[in-house]
Amino acid sequence: MRKKFETKAIRTQMERSKNSEHSSPIYLTSSFVFDTAEDMSSAFTEEENKTNIYSRFTNPNNTEFIQKITQMEGAEDGVAFASGMGAIYSTFAAFLNSGDHIVSCNSIFGSTHTLFTKYFPKWNILTSYFPFSNLKVAESLIQENTKCIYAESPTNPGVDILDLEALGKLAKKYNILLIIDNCFATPYLQKPISFGADLVIHSATKLMDGQGRVLGGVTVGKKELIKELFLFTRNSGASLSPFNAWILSKSLETLSLRVDRHSNNALKIAYQLEKQKNVNRVKYPFLKSHPQYNLAKKQMLKGGNIISFEVEGGLKAARAFMNSIKMCSISANLGDSRTIITHPASSTHSKLSLEDRLKIGITDNMIRLSVGLEHHEDIWNDIKNALKI
Ligand SMILES: Cc1ncc(COP(=O)(O)O)c(C=O)c1O
Repeated sequence: MRKKFETKAIRTQMERSKNSEHSSPIYLTSSFVFDTAEDMSSAFTEEENKTNIYSRFTNPNNTEFIQKITQMEGAEDGVAFASGMGAIYSTFAAFLNSGDHIVSCNSIFGSTHTLFTKYFPKWNILTSYFPFSNLKVAESLIQENTKCIYAESPTNPGVDILDLEALGKLAKKYNILLIIDNCFATPYLQKPISFGADLVIHSATKLMDGQGRVLGGVTVGKKELIKELFLFTRNSGASLSPFNAWILSKSLETLSLRVDRHSNNALKIAYQLEKQKNVNRVKYPFLKSHPQYNLAKKQMLKGGNIISFEVEGGLKAARAFMNSIKMCSISANLGDSRTIITHPASSTHSKLSLEDRLKIGITDNMIRLSVGLEHHEDIWNDIKNALKI
Protein backbone atom coordinates (compact mmCIF):
# COMPACT_ATOMS: atom_id res chain seq x y z
CA MET A 1 0.00 0.00 0.00
CA ARG A 2 1.26 3.49 -0.85
CA LYS A 3 2.27 5.47 2.19
CA LYS A 4 0.21 8.50 3.19
CA PHE A 5 1.48 12.12 3.27
CA GLU A 6 2.21 12.19 7.02
CA THR A 7 4.10 8.89 6.92
CA LYS A 8 6.21 9.97 3.96
CA ALA A 9 7.06 13.20 5.80
CA ILE A 10 8.36 11.21 8.76
CA ARG A 11 9.67 7.97 7.31
CA THR A 12 11.59 9.28 4.31
CA GLN A 13 15.08 9.18 5.74
CA MET A 14 18.68 8.91 4.64
CA GLU A 15 20.42 5.60 5.19
CA ARG A 16 21.47 5.03 8.82
CA SER A 17 25.19 5.33 9.55
CA LYS A 18 27.08 2.62 11.40
CA ASN A 19 26.15 4.45 14.63
CA SER A 20 22.50 3.35 14.25
CA GLU A 21 21.11 6.82 14.99
CA HIS A 22 17.31 7.15 15.07
CA SER A 23 17.12 10.79 13.95
CA SER A 24 19.13 11.77 10.85
CA PRO A 25 22.53 13.30 11.71
CA ILE A 26 23.75 16.59 10.22
CA TYR A 27 26.50 16.28 7.64
CA LEU A 28 28.28 19.58 8.20
CA THR A 29 30.99 18.97 5.66
CA SER A 30 32.01 20.97 2.62
CA SER A 31 33.37 18.00 0.73
CA PHE A 32 33.43 14.20 0.75
CA VAL A 33 36.45 11.91 0.47
CA PHE A 34 37.35 9.13 -1.95
CA ASP A 35 39.42 6.00 -1.42
CA THR A 36 41.31 6.42 -4.64
CA ALA A 37 42.08 8.97 -7.34
CA GLU A 38 40.14 6.75 -9.78
CA ASP A 39 37.01 6.85 -7.57
CA MET A 40 37.17 10.64 -7.44
CA SER A 41 37.70 10.88 -11.16
CA SER A 42 34.73 8.65 -11.90
CA ALA A 43 32.50 10.70 -9.56
CA PHE A 44 33.30 13.72 -11.73
CA THR A 45 32.84 11.97 -15.05
CA GLU A 46 29.09 12.17 -15.19
CA GLU A 47 28.06 15.73 -14.35
CA GLU A 48 24.59 14.76 -13.16
CA ASN A 49 25.98 11.93 -11.05
CA LYS A 50 24.65 12.30 -7.51
CA THR A 51 27.62 10.74 -5.71
CA ASN A 52 28.45 13.11 -2.86
CA ILE A 53 31.46 15.14 -3.96
CA TYR A 54 31.01 18.66 -2.60
CA SER A 55 28.10 20.21 -0.66
CA ARG A 56 27.41 22.82 -3.34
CA PHE A 57 26.40 19.84 -5.52
CA THR A 58 24.80 17.39 -3.10
CA ASN A 59 24.79 16.56 0.61
CA PRO A 60 22.88 13.80 2.44
CA ASN A 61 20.77 16.35 4.37
CA ASN A 62 19.79 18.20 1.19
CA THR A 63 18.99 14.91 -0.51
CA GLU A 64 16.73 13.83 2.37
CA PHE A 65 14.90 17.19 2.32
CA ILE A 66 14.46 17.03 -1.47
CA GLN A 67 13.22 13.44 -1.36
CA LYS A 68 10.54 14.41 1.16
CA ILE A 69 9.31 17.36 -0.90
CA THR A 70 9.26 15.41 -4.15
CA GLN A 71 7.14 12.72 -2.52
CA MET A 72 4.83 15.28 -0.93
CA GLU A 73 4.32 17.16 -4.21
CA GLY A 74 4.09 14.04 -6.39
CA ALA A 75 7.18 15.19 -8.33
CA GLU A 76 9.99 13.13 -9.83
CA ASP A 77 12.97 15.06 -8.48
CA GLY A 78 14.04 18.41 -7.04
CA VAL A 79 16.79 20.86 -6.18
CA ALA A 80 17.13 22.67 -2.83
CA PHE A 81 18.20 26.30 -2.54
CA ALA A 82 19.50 28.76 0.04
CA SER A 83 16.20 30.68 -0.06
CA GLY A 84 12.91 30.88 -1.90
CA MET A 85 14.29 33.66 -4.08
CA GLY A 86 17.36 31.50 -4.79
CA ALA A 87 14.92 28.85 -6.08
CA ILE A 88 12.92 31.34 -8.17
CA TYR A 89 15.94 33.11 -9.66
CA SER A 90 17.83 29.88 -10.41
CA THR A 91 14.78 28.22 -11.99
CA PHE A 92 14.32 31.09 -14.45
CA ALA A 93 18.04 31.45 -15.06
CA ALA A 94 18.38 27.74 -15.83
CA PHE A 95 15.54 27.58 -18.36
CA LEU A 96 15.28 31.00 -20.00
CA ASN A 97 17.45 32.37 -22.77
CA SER A 98 17.91 35.91 -23.96
CA GLY A 99 14.84 36.79 -26.04
CA ASP A 100 12.47 34.52 -24.11
CA HIS A 101 9.21 35.80 -22.70
CA ILE A 102 7.32 35.11 -19.44
CA VAL A 103 3.56 35.32 -18.97
CA SER A 104 3.04 35.98 -15.26
CA CYS A 105 0.12 36.67 -12.99
CA ASN A 106 0.33 40.32 -11.89
CA SER A 107 -0.16 39.36 -8.24
CA ILE A 108 3.20 37.89 -7.21
CA PHE A 109 5.71 38.27 -4.40
CA GLY A 110 7.52 41.64 -4.44
CA SER A 111 11.06 40.30 -5.03
CA THR A 112 9.85 38.07 -7.88
CA HIS A 113 8.25 41.16 -9.42
CA THR A 114 11.55 43.02 -9.00
CA LEU A 115 13.40 40.19 -10.80
CA PHE A 116 10.95 40.41 -13.71
CA THR A 117 10.93 44.20 -13.97
CA LYS A 118 14.45 45.30 -12.95
CA TYR A 119 16.84 42.45 -13.74
CA PHE A 120 15.46 40.13 -16.44
CA PRO A 121 15.05 42.94 -19.01
CA LYS A 122 18.88 43.39 -18.76
CA TRP A 123 19.13 39.95 -20.36
CA ASN A 124 16.35 40.66 -22.85
CA ILE A 125 13.80 38.53 -21.00
CA LEU A 126 10.49 40.37 -20.83
CA THR A 127 7.35 39.63 -18.83
CA SER A 128 3.69 40.31 -19.61
CA TYR A 129 1.14 40.26 -16.80
CA PHE A 130 -2.39 38.92 -16.58
CA PRO A 131 -4.89 39.54 -13.78
CA PHE A 132 -5.37 36.47 -11.58
CA SER A 133 -9.07 36.23 -12.47
CA ASN A 134 -8.75 36.40 -16.24
CA LEU A 135 -6.96 33.53 -17.94
CA LYS A 136 -8.28 34.72 -21.31
CA VAL A 137 -5.89 37.64 -20.95
CA ALA A 138 -3.13 35.14 -20.05
CA GLU A 139 -3.80 33.24 -23.28
CA SER A 140 -3.86 36.42 -25.35
CA LEU A 141 -0.39 37.34 -24.00
CA ILE A 142 1.26 34.11 -25.16
CA GLN A 143 3.55 34.75 -28.11
CA GLU A 144 6.01 32.71 -30.13
CA ASN A 145 8.89 33.27 -27.71
CA THR A 146 6.87 32.63 -24.52
CA LYS A 147 8.70 30.05 -22.46
CA CYS A 148 6.53 29.76 -19.38
CA ILE A 149 3.49 30.79 -17.41
CA TYR A 150 4.22 31.79 -13.81
CA ALA A 151 1.82 32.18 -10.89
CA GLU A 152 1.30 31.86 -7.17
CA SER A 153 -1.88 30.51 -5.62
CA PRO A 154 -2.97 31.73 -3.13
CA THR A 155 -1.24 34.96 -4.07
CA ASN A 156 0.94 37.05 -1.77
CA PRO A 157 -0.49 39.19 -0.19
CA GLY A 158 -4.00 39.29 -1.71
CA VAL A 159 -4.77 35.57 -1.11
CA ASP A 160 -6.44 35.40 -4.50
CA ILE A 161 -6.85 31.96 -6.03
CA LEU A 162 -5.81 31.00 -9.56
CA ASP A 163 -7.42 28.14 -11.44
CA LEU A 164 -4.48 25.71 -11.55
CA GLU A 165 -6.23 23.16 -13.75
CA ALA A 166 -7.08 25.81 -16.36
CA LEU A 167 -3.49 27.11 -16.22
CA GLY A 168 -2.21 23.55 -16.68
CA LYS A 169 -4.38 23.10 -19.78
CA LEU A 170 -3.27 26.45 -21.17
CA ALA A 171 0.42 25.62 -20.75
CA LYS A 172 -0.10 22.23 -22.39
CA LYS A 173 -2.02 23.76 -25.32
CA TYR A 174 0.93 26.02 -26.17
CA ASN A 175 3.61 23.53 -25.11
CA ILE A 176 5.14 25.90 -22.57
CA LEU A 177 6.16 25.39 -18.95
CA LEU A 178 3.79 26.06 -16.06
CA ILE A 179 5.73 27.16 -12.98
CA ILE A 180 3.80 27.54 -9.72
CA ASP A 181 4.99 29.10 -6.46
CA ASN A 182 3.13 26.89 -3.94
CA CYS A 183 4.52 28.63 -0.86
CA PHE A 184 1.22 29.79 0.70
CA ALA A 185 -0.48 26.39 0.34
CA THR A 186 2.34 23.89 0.95
CA PRO A 187 2.05 20.41 -0.63
CA TYR A 188 -0.17 19.40 2.27
CA LEU A 189 -2.98 21.67 1.08
CA GLN A 190 -2.38 21.75 -2.66
CA LYS A 191 -0.44 19.78 -5.27
CA PRO A 192 0.01 21.88 -8.44
CA ILE A 193 1.62 18.98 -10.35
CA SER A 194 -1.68 17.10 -10.15
CA PHE A 195 -3.24 20.06 -12.06
CA GLY A 196 -0.57 20.14 -14.76
CA ALA A 197 2.30 22.23 -13.33
CA ASP A 198 5.75 21.32 -14.68
CA LEU A 199 7.74 22.91 -11.88
CA VAL A 200 6.69 23.79 -8.33
CA ILE A 201 8.68 26.27 -6.25
CA HIS A 202 8.66 26.89 -2.51
CA SER A 203 10.11 29.33 -0.09
CA ALA A 204 10.81 26.71 2.60
CA THR A 205 11.45 29.66 4.92
CA LYS A 206 7.71 29.90 5.48
CA LEU A 207 5.38 27.09 6.61
CA MET A 208 7.92 24.36 5.86
CA ASP A 209 10.28 25.61 8.55
CA GLY A 210 7.26 26.99 10.35
CA GLN A 211 9.20 28.33 13.29
CA GLY A 212 10.96 31.34 11.80
CA ARG A 213 14.48 29.93 12.08
CA VAL A 214 16.08 29.32 8.69
CA LEU A 215 15.85 30.31 5.04
CA GLY A 216 15.48 27.74 2.32
CA GLY A 217 13.91 27.07 -1.05
CA VAL A 218 13.15 24.18 -3.32
CA THR A 219 12.03 23.50 -6.88
CA VAL A 220 10.54 20.14 -7.85
CA GLY A 221 9.21 18.70 -11.07
CA LYS A 222 9.91 16.35 -13.94
CA LYS A 223 13.24 14.51 -13.95
CA GLU A 224 14.53 15.93 -17.22
CA LEU A 225 13.83 19.53 -16.12
CA ILE A 226 15.35 18.99 -12.69
CA LYS A 227 18.48 17.57 -14.29
CA GLU A 228 19.00 20.92 -16.06
CA LEU A 229 18.30 22.86 -12.88
CA PHE A 230 20.62 20.67 -10.84
CA LEU A 231 23.50 21.28 -13.26
CA PHE A 232 22.82 25.02 -13.21
CA THR A 233 22.75 25.13 -9.41
CA ARG A 234 25.79 22.92 -8.99
CA ASN A 235 27.70 25.52 -10.99
CA SER A 236 25.98 28.74 -9.91
CA GLY A 237 25.91 27.92 -6.19
CA ALA A 238 22.66 29.06 -4.52
CA SER A 239 22.58 25.69 -2.74
CA LEU A 240 20.90 25.01 0.60
CA SER A 241 23.23 24.59 3.58
CA PRO A 242 23.22 21.12 5.20
CA PHE A 243 22.30 22.63 8.57
CA ASN A 244 19.24 24.37 7.13
CA ALA A 245 18.33 21.21 5.22
CA TRP A 246 18.42 19.23 8.48
CA ILE A 247 16.17 21.79 10.21
CA LEU A 248 13.75 21.83 7.28
CA SER A 249 13.61 18.06 6.92
CA LYS A 250 12.79 17.73 10.62
CA SER A 251 10.15 20.46 10.31
CA LEU A 252 8.41 18.59 7.50
CA GLU A 253 7.64 15.79 9.97
CA THR A 254 5.09 18.09 11.62
CA LEU A 255 3.97 20.06 8.54
CA SER A 256 0.50 18.52 8.28
CA LEU A 257 -0.21 18.95 12.01
CA ARG A 258 0.94 22.54 11.98
CA VAL A 259 -0.83 23.52 8.77
CA ASP A 260 -4.06 21.94 10.05
CA ARG A 261 -3.88 24.06 13.21
CA HIS A 262 -2.76 27.18 11.30
CA SER A 263 -5.74 26.79 8.95
CA ASN A 264 -8.24 26.15 11.75
CA ASN A 265 -6.99 29.19 13.67
CA ALA A 266 -7.04 31.36 10.54
CA LEU A 267 -10.62 30.44 9.66
CA LYS A 268 -11.75 31.36 13.18
CA ILE A 269 -9.94 34.73 13.02
CA ALA A 270 -11.30 35.41 9.52
CA TYR A 271 -14.88 34.84 10.75
CA GLN A 272 -14.29 37.32 13.57
CA LEU A 273 -12.71 39.93 11.31
CA GLU A 274 -15.67 39.75 8.95
CA LYS A 275 -17.95 40.84 11.78
CA GLN A 276 -15.99 44.01 12.63
CA LYS A 277 -17.45 47.35 11.58
CA ASN A 278 -14.08 49.03 10.99
CA VAL A 279 -12.65 46.14 8.93
CA ASN A 280 -13.30 45.78 5.20
CA ARG A 281 -12.48 43.34 2.41
CA VAL A 282 -11.55 40.38 4.61
CA LYS A 283 -10.09 37.77 2.28
CA TYR A 284 -9.43 34.18 3.26
CA PRO A 285 -9.73 31.29 0.76
CA PHE A 286 -12.15 29.24 2.86
CA LEU A 287 -14.50 32.14 3.73
CA LYS A 288 -17.70 31.85 1.69
CA SER A 289 -17.34 35.54 0.82
CA HIS A 290 -14.00 34.92 -0.96
CA PRO A 291 -14.57 35.55 -4.69
CA GLN A 292 -12.90 32.23 -5.58
CA TYR A 293 -14.27 30.21 -2.65
CA ASN A 294 -15.44 27.30 -4.86
CA LEU A 295 -12.13 27.15 -6.66
CA ALA A 296 -10.23 27.21 -3.36
CA LYS A 297 -12.40 24.32 -2.11
CA LYS A 298 -11.70 22.40 -5.31
CA GLN A 299 -7.93 22.68 -5.29
CA MET A 300 -7.04 23.14 -1.61
CA LEU A 301 -7.57 20.88 1.40
CA LYS A 302 -7.88 23.81 3.83
CA GLY A 303 -7.48 27.58 3.56
CA GLY A 304 -3.92 28.03 4.85
CA ASN A 305 -2.82 30.63 7.36
CA ILE A 306 -2.88 33.96 5.52
CA ILE A 307 -5.70 36.49 5.76
CA SER A 308 -5.75 39.91 4.15
CA PHE A 309 -8.02 42.74 5.25
CA GLU A 310 -8.35 46.50 5.28
CA VAL A 311 -8.61 48.68 8.36
CA GLU A 312 -11.08 51.49 7.75
CA GLY A 313 -9.47 54.91 7.71
CA GLY A 314 -6.49 54.62 5.33
CA LEU A 315 -2.78 54.41 6.07
CA LYS A 316 -3.11 56.22 9.40
CA ALA A 317 -5.64 53.71 10.71
CA ALA A 318 -3.60 50.72 9.45
CA ARG A 319 -0.49 52.05 11.22
CA ALA A 320 -2.45 52.84 14.41
CA PHE A 321 -3.81 49.27 14.38
CA MET A 322 -0.33 47.79 14.00
CA ASN A 323 1.09 50.04 16.69
CA SER A 324 -1.66 48.95 19.12
CA ILE A 325 -0.87 45.24 18.75
CA LYS A 326 0.63 43.79 21.95
CA MET A 327 1.31 40.07 21.37
CA CYS A 328 1.46 39.44 17.61
CA SER A 329 4.69 40.40 15.83
CA ILE A 330 5.24 43.14 13.27
CA SER A 331 7.54 41.35 10.86
CA ALA A 332 8.18 40.56 7.18
CA ASN A 333 8.05 36.78 7.48
CA LEU A 334 4.98 34.55 7.34
CA GLY A 335 4.11 30.95 8.14
CA ASP A 336 5.75 31.14 11.58
CA SER A 337 4.31 29.58 14.76
CA ARG A 338 4.00 33.20 15.94
CA THR A 339 1.23 35.34 14.45
CA ILE A 340 2.75 38.03 12.22
CA ILE A 341 1.25 41.27 10.98
CA THR A 342 2.65 42.92 7.87
CA HIS A 343 1.82 46.10 5.96
CA PRO A 344 2.62 45.01 2.36
CA ALA A 345 2.31 48.49 0.77
CA SER A 346 5.22 49.86 2.82
CA SER A 347 7.31 46.69 3.11
CA THR A 348 7.20 43.45 1.08
CA HIS A 349 5.54 45.09 -1.95
CA SER A 350 6.87 48.66 -1.59
CA LYS A 351 8.95 48.41 -4.79
CA LEU A 352 5.80 48.08 -6.92
CA SER A 353 4.46 51.30 -8.44
CA LEU A 354 1.28 52.67 -6.85
CA GLU A 355 -0.63 51.72 -10.01
CA ASP A 356 0.66 48.11 -9.96
CA ARG A 357 -0.06 47.82 -6.23
CA LEU A 358 -3.62 49.06 -6.52
CA LYS A 359 -4.32 46.74 -9.47
CA ILE A 360 -3.74 43.77 -7.18
CA GLY A 361 -5.52 45.24 -4.18
CA ILE A 362 -2.52 46.33 -2.10
CA THR A 363 -4.06 49.47 -0.69
CA ASP A 364 -2.46 51.67 1.97
CA ASN A 365 -4.77 50.19 4.62
CA MET A 366 -4.32 46.53 3.65
CA ILE A 367 -2.94 44.25 6.35
CA ARG A 368 -1.51 40.77 5.77
CA LEU A 369 -2.05 38.52 8.74
CA SER A 370 -0.05 35.31 9.03
CA VAL A 371 -2.01 33.41 11.66
CA GLY A 372 0.22 31.44 14.00
CA LEU A 373 -0.16 28.53 16.37
CA GLU A 374 -0.93 30.46 19.56
CA HIS A 375 -4.41 29.77 20.99
CA HIS A 376 -6.90 31.38 18.62
CA GLU A 377 -8.61 33.25 21.48
CA ASP A 378 -5.35 34.96 22.44
CA ILE A 379 -4.67 35.92 18.82
CA TRP A 380 -8.17 37.30 18.44
CA ASN A 381 -8.05 39.24 21.74
CA ASP A 382 -4.87 40.98 20.62
CA ILE A 383 -6.35 41.90 17.22
CA LYS A 384 -9.72 42.90 18.65
CA ASN A 385 -8.11 45.22 21.20
CA ALA A 386 -5.88 46.80 18.54
CA LEU A 387 -8.91 47.40 16.33
CA LYS A 388 -10.46 49.62 19.01
CA ILE A 389 -8.51 52.51 17.57
C1 LIG B 1 5.12 33.61 -2.20
C2 LIG B 1 6.57 33.81 -1.90
N1 LIG B 1 7.49 33.33 -2.77
C3 LIG B 1 8.80 33.48 -2.54
C4 LIG B 1 9.28 34.14 -1.42
C5 LIG B 1 10.75 34.31 -1.22
O1 LIG B 1 11.22 33.43 -0.28
P1 LIG B 1 12.56 33.66 0.61
O2 LIG B 1 12.28 34.78 1.52
O3 LIG B 1 12.77 32.34 1.27
O4 LIG B 1 13.65 33.99 -0.36
C6 LIG B 1 8.36 34.64 -0.50
C7 LIG B 1 8.84 35.35 0.71
O5 LIG B 1 8.06 35.96 1.42
C8 LIG B 1 6.97 34.45 -0.74
O6 LIG B 1 6.05 34.91 0.11
